[in-house]
Amino acid sequence: MKKILALILAGCMVLSMAACGGSETAAPTEENTATTEETKEEAPAEKAEETAEEVAAEVPAGGKVGVCIYKFDDAFMTTYRNALQAILEEKGYEVSVVDGNNDQAKQTEQVNTFITQGVDALIINPVMTSAADTIIAAVKQANIPTVLINREPTAEQMAAYDKLVYVGCDAAQSGTFQGEIILETENKGDINGDGKVSYIMIQGDPENIDAQLRTEYSVKALTDAGMEVEQLDLQRGDWDRNKGQEIAQNDLAKFGDQIEVVFCNNDDMAIGALQAIQAAGRTVNEDIYLVGVDALDAALNEVVNGNLTGTVLNDAQSQATQAVACMEELLGGKTYAEGEQSVYVDYVKVTPDNASEFIK
Ligand code: GAL
Repeated sequence: MKKILALILAGCMVLSMAACGGSETAAPTEENTATTEETKEEAPAEKAEETAEEVAAEVPAGGKVGVCIYKFDDAFMTTYRNALQAILEEKGYEVSVVDGNNDQAKQTEQVNTFITQGVDALIINPVMTSAADTIIAAVKQANIPTVLINREPTAEQMAAYDKLVYVGCDAAQSGTFQGEIILETENKGDINGDGKVSYIMIQGDPENIDAQLRTEYSVKALTDAGMEVEQLDLQRGDWDRNKGQEIAQNDLAKFGDQIEVVFCNNDDMAIGALQAIQAAGRTVNEDIYLVGVDALDAALNEVVNGNLTGTVLNDAQSQATQAVACMEELLGGKTYAEGEQSVYVDYVKVTPDNASEFIK
């Protein structure tokens, strides 16, 4: 094991010259080449004649990685976890991905099981950031390099362990982009011309900083631009399509034409809201605006078709790449100083002008 670490470290000294996760490099890389060393003892002699690339492609890197996802039944996290698994497997890691079923007690148990099994590294999407202290204490005690993803704990919580890093995005930026999308419409969201933008806010899980900041900054972009706003309703939809549909349906029945903008903290809820909007006989971009976040494929198609005013790319592929790069740096011995434990990937504003570029 020492040998593997030394070799990974050698590779990472080169890699760390770029910011963690900066490289889009798939195999073969220094670390892949290095980790093939580990299997030399058992590798048949003829392997020596193969190129480094061939060996890297065939031989597992040898590291065991445990991945904990807050729940599998989440549209964005499904894209993210598939990207993560593909990158790790392509690099030759032995990967185990588990579903926390949105149950923090269950996830804490899964983390402890991975520790007992002796994984080399963990990638964790916490169920509740308020429980991060418990998780951080456990991985610290076991001395396991850990990357937290998607749900950001506070800097103080992370400071407890220097082999811990968070990879995600700056949620405020996605909220600002949502507000800007509304400001870029012909009437800046004030469809009925009464001098104010009347909106409903369909929020994700409010325990989550993404939900808090998107809610705040989407509206702040409007008020910063001098618009008057009126919040008709704010309800939690927990990132869920059906809840988004129900909330929009009730609000449309209650407030009718007063609603000019429907802000949704994510696309899945926006797609639910769109069903309600269409069922109520309203037309997006004509008598109502609708925005989401994530740039799920279904949402991108609706942007292209004019049924969603816009969305914001939450770049699962880049975040997964960064998370793995950071994990490899931690495996190579890197530690993170307090206040420098968050690594962000940029969001991208998506409107009909550029939506088709993001469709896979
Ligand atoms: C957000 C994403 C949501 C949901 C949430 C889970 O970043 O926009 O769709 O996946 O993470 O924490």
